[in-house]
Amino acid sequence: MDKVVSLSKRRGFIFPGSEIYSGLGGIYDLGPLGVELANNIKKAWWKNIVRERDNVVGLDSAILMNRQVWHTSGHVESFADPLVECKNCHTRFRDDTLPKSKNCPICGKKDWTAPRQFNLMFKTHIGPLEEEGTETFLRPETAQGIFVNFGNVIDTMRVKLPFGIAQIGKGFRNEITTGNFLFRVREFEMMELEYFTFPETAEKDFEYWQKERMDWHLSLGLKKESLRFREHEDNERAHYATRSVDIEYNWPFMGWGELEGIANRTDYDLKQHAKMSGKDLSYFDEETKKKIVPYVIEPSIGVGRMMLALIIDAYTEEKAPTAEKGEAETRTVLKLNPTLSPIKVAILPLVKDVKLTKIAREIHKDLRENWETIYDEVGTIGRRYRRQDEIGTPYCVTVDFDSLNDDAVTVRDRDSMKQERIKVDEINNWVMKKLSRP
Ligand code: GAP
Repeated sequence: MDKVVSLSKRRGFIFPGSEIYSGLGGIYDLGPLGVELANNIKKAWWKNIVRERDNVVGLDSAILMNRQVWHTSGHVESFADPLVECKNCHTRFRDDTLPKSKNCPICGKKDWTAPRQFNLMFKTHIGPLEEEGTETFLRPETAQGIFVNFGNVIDTMRVKLPFGIAQIGKGFRNEITTGNFLFRVREFEMMELEYFTFPETAEKDFEYWQKERMDWHLSLGLKKESLRFREHEDNERAHYATRSVDIEYNWPFMGWGELEGIANRTDYDLKQHAKMSGKDLSYFDEETKKKIVPYVIEPSIGVGRMMLALIIDAYTEEKAPTAEKGEAETRTVLKLNPTLSPIKVAILPLVKDVKLTKIAREIHKDLRENWETIYDEVGTIGRRYRRQDEIGTPYCVTVDFDSLNDDAVTVRDRDSMKQERIKVDEINNWVMKKLSRP
């Protein structure tokens, strides 16, 4: 895990938030490569959930919502974790994360305050007056933005049950304890689907989404043995859910733990909002000519948590001959699915020769129209390959002196390190073919 954290910082994936001011607990910034990786994860999710389906539409609702939303949804009342404080060193913890022995992880004493419920929502105010009436919250989930727009979507999109509304956006939770890098943070992006369906088929749809979501993780290259399902116990479920199954990942720092949650939220949210807003949030079924309040199946996953699982899973150290001497050395490779890699192609002139750099820059100009690319002429070719391996770049294009005669370049594959000679005017199509599907 230390190596993953170090690589993430060193290579510009993830930086501690506000680092020059000693950071801010549980807050991280995405660096130049991190933002590309996150964008690719979001694109892959959107493609799978929205673009490739006839019955799912997208939405982007505001982070700030009328405060009544959070009263109606039950978050003001119930979105809380049990907080305890060590009476000796005054450190605060989430009660259910303490070791079984209940000794304070900081000072070793066993003297705790009684648990009290600590609400995880960040408060803020709308407008210049800081009084109770202007108070609202930063959203802890994007789902409520979907529920309050349910009527707008039915009225405008001619959707027919079952259908889904998907959204990607920031969520904020004032977690009592953060940690394990991106695993538990206080500000994070979420990818959420609310799949509205008939109450009678909700259980079957739940199972459908379980399989769909697991298949997605596998299609992106997460190892099968690193993933499993886990059904929640009755006392673990969120206040709105009657059934929850996690897709768990086998994290190196804690063992099995949640990567994605799938919940059956029933008609809880729509009924609550209909009751408290006085608006009709039912669906008229043309076939039965009856109004119903749909049930909701919700797969929900954090972008950062997914990014962490992907980096951990892809991180590989292996013996490899160096380009210069042919001796074995350890190379670090991020074996990311190429569609997710922040940089798709690195263009490298073999040496800094005017004729070679001219061709390399032309190839770079051409390829960057379609792909995230990088041009690098600094250092030995072996070191430049290693650098690209470490950030997961699937293809390196090398321009050498033969290129001057045969109008071809060498393309090196990240994982096999095999090299292929390809005509310059065919590279674009070659990359296109390679990256067309995960
Ligand atoms: N609307 C459903 C919902 O919010 P959740 O299980 O609380 O469900 C969904 O959160 C997903 O968001 C989790 O599976 C996890 O991937 C991510 N997530 C939740 N809390 C997080 C945190 N503090 N830091 C990073 N990711 C988090």
